[in-house]
Amino acid sequence: MGIESVKNLLDAAQKASTSVIAFDALDYDTVYACVKGAEAARRPVILMLYPAMNKIISFRAYAELVKTLARDASVPVALHLDHCSDYDTILAAIHAGFTSVMADGSALPFDENVAFTKSVVDVARAFEVDVEGELGHVGQVAAGFAYNDKGTFTVPEEAALFAEKTGVTSLAVAFGSCHGAYQEPPDLDLERLQKIDAATPVPLVLHGGSGIPADQLKKAFRMGINKFNVATEYITLYEGLLHRFYTEKFGTCSPFEKFPFVREPLVAYIADKLQLCALTV
Ligand code: 13P
Repeated sequence: MGIESVKNLLDAAQKASTSVIAFDALDYDTVYACVKGAEAARRPVILMLYPAMNKIISFRAYAELVKTLARDASVPVALHLDHCSDYDTILAAIHAGFTSVMADGSALPFDENVAFTKSVVDVARAFEVDVEGELGHVGQVAAGFAYNDKGTFTVPEEAALFAEKTGVTSLAVAFGSCHGAYQEPPDLDLERLQKIDAATPVPLVLHGGSGIPADQLKKAFRMGINKFNVATEYITLYEGLLHRFYTEKFGTCSPFEKFPFVREPLVAYIADKLQLCALTV
């Protein structure tokens, strides 16, 4: 299979009232485990990269890696640039082969967010690249973001206007989630989500996926979330596995043993998480 478009996956998810799941991966092992976990679960998967990672693994190397694994995968695999607020960096990712990008203007006032996001959509369209925008703001637990503060939540009428003015493929919305490890499980404002979903036909995206209880996720997926982003849980699991391997095994076994040691639990985590997605392939 070739690389799948994020838009196609989101459209299919929307028709089925479910969500595709997107993971931030950093290197060969974390990308590989996403693809293998998706194959085991018979679910599509989206691989994402944080833009700052471009200094560690170039956009081109990451895009080629995902595309190579996607070609040989038995399930649809899509590629997406996560949170990016810089126009030139987004263009660099598109030139390097990313087929979907996030234009994150959520820290800007409404009109500036519209102008920034639309400028990305205009250029992305020429390359047939999908664009996710964000309205309302999903912050970081580590920065003390008040994720229960309804003042940061997406306003349904504004979401409709934003989607119409920018032409985004999908829209990340704020209704009680936050990036990072929650101190207490969040209490998503599902009523707000329903209102946003009723106001706009654009597929909605839930950020800050780590640590949200499954019952809330299942409801959110039925109420309009069609893309669900996970990073912290996955990366923390990976770091823990590396730590365990080097603590328990360093100097006592072949370095090649590291690969199955970390990959098997990562694949199992992905396959299990993907059970939340009702789109089987
Ligand atoms: P978490 O790190 O909280 O899982 O959030 C990931 C995310 O939303 C990436 O865009």
